[in-house]
Amino acid sequence: MRILLTGTSGQLGHALLQTLDSIGTVIVPERRTMDLSQPEQLRQVIRTIQPDLIVNPAAYTAVDKAESEPELAHTINATAPAVMAEEAKKLGAALIHYSTDYVFDGSKCDAAGNLLPYAEQDPTAPINVYGQTKLAGEQAIRQSGCRHLIFRTSWVYSLFGKNFLLTMLRLAKEREELNIVNDQWGAPTSAGWLAEASASIIAQIIHAADQDQWWEQHQGLYHMTPQGKTSWCGFTQEIMAQAGKLALFSKTAPVVTGIPASQYPTPARRPVNSCLDTHLLAQHFGLAIPTWQAVLENCLQRQPQNNHHSGKYN
Ligand SMILES: NC(=O)c1ccc[n+]([C@@H]2O[C@H](COP(=O)([O-])OP(=O)(O)OC[C@H]3O[C@@H](n4cnc5c(N)ncnc54)[C@H](OP(=O)(O)O)[C@@H]3O)[C@@H](O)[C@H]2O)c1
Repeated sequence: MRILLTGTSGQLGHALLQTLDSIGTVIVPERRTMDLSQPEQLRQVIRTIQPDLIVNPAAYTAVDKAESEPELAHTINATAPAVMAEEAKKLGAALIHYSTDYVFDGSKCDAAGNLLPYAEQDPTAPINVYGQTKLAGEQAIRQSGCRHLIFRTSWVYSLFGKNFLLTMLRLAKEREELNIVNDQWGAPTSAGWLAEASASIIAQIIHAADQDQWWEQHQGLYHMTPQGKTSWCGFTQEIMAQAGKLALFSKTAPVVTGIPASQYPTPARRPVNSCLDTHLLAQHFGLAIPTWQAVLENCLQRQPQNNHHSGKYN
């Protein structure tokens, strides 16, 4: 199977490169020859490579900057996936694409005000430009008629790249106290776990006796996060507890104090509730979904002392 993979300098693309390598022939064009802000260039690259599968973790992910660069964010997050889908359809190829909890406004709750996880079919209502552009990407793929899987995920971290986990591990060495938002809720998700779950689904596609039947049964949109929920503050406390046990920093862990998001203003609004219901993913693909704490533990335990980034669940 010829797999065209995007975004390998990013957290998820980096992890996918490691997991997909054993499944098929992974083709990774250089960024300058396949720039997603140049959709026609992208179209030509796909026509030249003629992949069986396109896996697209690349995205414009600078949530705050997107507020002032809506056109660029739209081209990368909506137009480029639309081109991938069109070309996949023409080639008879499939497209695996990643989206976000930010397609929702974060207001889902019961009558008592308890937050409820979002199901795939719940109405979308993004409250920032990034979420709007990612939703437009989803819609273009779904309307294209190509074989596709779209995985919505949340709060992605890794030992590679730039992310909340690495920022907290750095701050743990520098600060005595951390003030972290405690009124936004979601499931932290490691890029390594996402890549392993994706790879196991791609293996199912490859081994399906009847491809038409497989796609008829499974094509669609799925939520892909670990189980459970926490706040950014709760996530930080767990990072400190687990990293402390693994002696990832030599000083005493900083005191972590919760603050409301209103004390940490950002250009883009973020949903209060980012929790995604993952029952459909578990049911369709027979995946056992671990807790977010177990996924974090798996990621941190694989932190090599020499900061070499390969390994499961990183
Ligand atoms: N990070 C999160 O918390 C989060 C949460 C929910 C959903 N998601 C979704 O999960 C997926 C993976 O996210 P991630 O955290 O792995 O992203 P990331 O680390 O920010 O990586 C993004 C990747 O996209 C590439 N890219 C950006 N603009 C490009 C362009 N014009 N042409 C080609 N490549 C381009 C980047 O390349 P350069 O390095 O060259 O810029 C990088 O490789 C994305 O679809 C994202 O929307 C992420």
